[in-house]
Amino acid sequence: MTKKRLVVLGTGLIGREHCTLVQNHPQAELVGVADVTDDAVAYAQNIGVPCYARFESLLDETKPDGAIIALPNTLHLAAGLACLQRQIPCLIEKPIADTIPAAQQLVQASESFAIPILVGHHRRHSPDIYESKRLIAEGAIGDLVAVNGMWMADKPDDYFNAEWRRKPGGGPLLINLIHEMDCLRFIVGEIESVRAFTSNAARGFEVEDTASISLRFENGALGSFIMSDSVASPYTWEATSGQALYFPHQPGDCYFFGGTNGSLAAPSMNLWRHDQKTDHWENPFLRQHMPLDGSRAYENQLDHFLAVLAGTAVPVIGARDAMMTLAATLAVGIAAREDRTVTLRELLT
Ligand SMILES: NC(=O)c1ccc[n+]([C@@H]2O[C@H](COP(=O)([O-])OP(=O)(O)OC[C@H]3O[C@@H](n4cnc5c(N)ncnc54)[C@H](O)[C@@H]3O)[C@@H](O)[C@H]2O)c1
Repeated sequence: MTKKRLVVLGTGLIGREHCTLVQNHPQAELVGVADVTDDAVAYAQNIGVPCYARFESLLDETKPDGAIIALPNTLHLAAGLACLQRQIPCLIEKPIADTIPAAQQLVQASESFAIPILVGHHRRHSPDIYESKRLIAEGAIGDLVAVNGMWMADKPDDYFNAEWRRKPGGGPLLINLIHEMDCLRFIVGEIESVRAFTSNAARGFEVEDTASISLRFENGALGSFIMSDSVASPYTWEATSGQALYFPHQPGDCYFFGGTNGSLAAPSMNLWRHDQKTDHWENPFLRQHMPLDGSRAYENQLDHFLAVLAGTAVPVIGARDAMMTLAATLAVGIAAREDRTVTLRELLT
């Protein structure tokens, strides 16, 4: 099998991880990167690939089989369109774009050119996430009633040196909560409406640092979620799953799914049910640990992108699906600002 020739647009925090993943993959070759800093030029030289200041030049001169877009959120639209106009399928880091109209342009371009976009919601490629979805869909906990989740982390101060991370569009709703909304949509089902409180009291930036969220799903389940980037805790998917690229593994849970016949905690994959003969709340529960396949989310994501490029898979999360995740995430900010229930339908029409 010939190697797929890939490029990476943006060699910051996650772009460099993509470069490493591509260079370590036996069926992929990194043929160039685009970035605008001197540091990026030195980095590219160090890993042995050309660096272009304009991503259009990178695409025109290297003519890659696929592109990975790891630029700030506000550039996803321009870079995504640049790829699609050149018939180059792309893996766009999440969020697909920073606004719904921008996401709609990418959906339309992807569908009218028939060129796939895979959006970088890497958790969909993580065994705890797809196994939770499978177990719940197969009725392991009965009918889903309620969901609870947490993402509480303490970002270091220098993380905010990049100015875009302190401004609207670059805060933890679009950078972090968007992963949670995507996981919840993937595992539980489509979100119908959202209520929320947000606060910027801990960091005092223009963007929020903390949010408390209530969710109603189309299937009738209810959910709640707490998110903060100012809390020192291991209660994040990154820490508890051990799947993240640059966080230590702190085994534990961040999602709790409650059903009529039992409950499931993830990523620990502890399934709690009554013994069938003692189905009464005064009787003890049995804990069953559900096995995972041991694979790695980011490696699985790259394998999947290569399969999309080969035409043997359709994106597990394409542009339209990712626009729904963006809408659910943006709904949180609107619900908090306007102190009301926000439906996804109103954001998309
Ligand atoms: N899936 C994940 O695990 C994950 C993790 C982190 C970030 N992200 C997403 O990836 C994207 C990048 O985030 P980051 O934290 O790596 O940001 P970053 O600021 O570390 O990196 C962005 C890079 O883009 C470069 N850049 C800016 N403008 C450019 C231009 N016009 N042309 C070429 N290069 C340009 C910057 O110099 C920088 O090196 C964001 O959309 C973010 O939400 C995803």
